[in-house]
Amino acid sequence: MQIDLSQRTILLTGASGELGRKTAVELAKVGAHCILMARQVEALQKTAQQMPEGSASVLSVDLTDSQQIEGALEALPRHVDAIVHCAAPTFKYTKLHQLTEDDTEQQFQVGVHSMMQMCTKLLPEMMLKRWGRVVFASSLASLVSGRGAAHYNMVKSAQESLIRSIALEYGRYQICANALRLGPIDGERLSKRE
Ligand SMILES: NC(=O)c1ccc[n+]([C@@H]2O[C@H](COP(=O)([O-])OP(=O)(O)OC[C@H]3O[C@@H](n4cnc5c(N)ncnc54)[C@H](OP(=O)(O)O)[C@@H]3O)[C@@H](O)[C@H]2O)c1
Repeated sequence: MQIDLSQRTILLTGASGELGRKTAVELAKVGAHCILMARQVEALQKTAQQMPEGSASVLSVDLTDSQQIEGALEALPRHVDAIVHCAAPTFKYTKLHQLTEDDTEQQFQVGVHSMMQMCTKLLPEMMLKRWGRVVFASSLASLVSGRGAAHYNMVKSAQESLIRSIALEYGRYQICANALRLGPIDGERLSKRE
């Protein structure tokens, strides 16, 4: 299949993480410009360095902070054609009764609320252009609950519910919405959790 994203700008969250970095590099190979979003600027720059010159912009944002998100959306360097949401806070396996309100709130803010906010702002522009893509990095955890991760499991189910609503409501504007239900990837994220 020939994929050409040379005229497209993709807002990629979690772009300092393992999957986000690999995704950014692959998107750049098919011509996309990526706006790399996460908190750690140096790690985002490391991602940008692995991409062809001029194919990335870096935007440091804490996705638990709606004001920071608002500011970033106002300052976007160009029209966004697609959002790929890879950001997810790391966590340690914790039984439900030991989870703090903060643990759960952080998962929902980054996993769901930030995307609601970004979609609210960016979907109308995609509707006007009659082209858009929204992608979530979901997980098997949306279906098969892993122990010690009630908050994460819930967020992944919520993400898939949200993506179905986006597909249903915006498909007629040529906006495709998909969640990738990933299995465990042997890498840093899993090792940090053990
Ligand atoms: N790895 C796996 O085995 C696996 C399996 C199934 C699904 N997934 C899903 O795939 C996605 C990516 O996973 P990964 O392995 O690449 O994880 P990762 O390496 O831990 O990366 C997580 C990313 O989220 C960002 N992030 C976390 N908290 C944030 C916040 N408050 N504000 C902004 N950004 C924040 C991190 O950036 P900063 O720290 O720089 O902010 C980082 O870029 C996640 O949605 C995960 O649920 C992963």
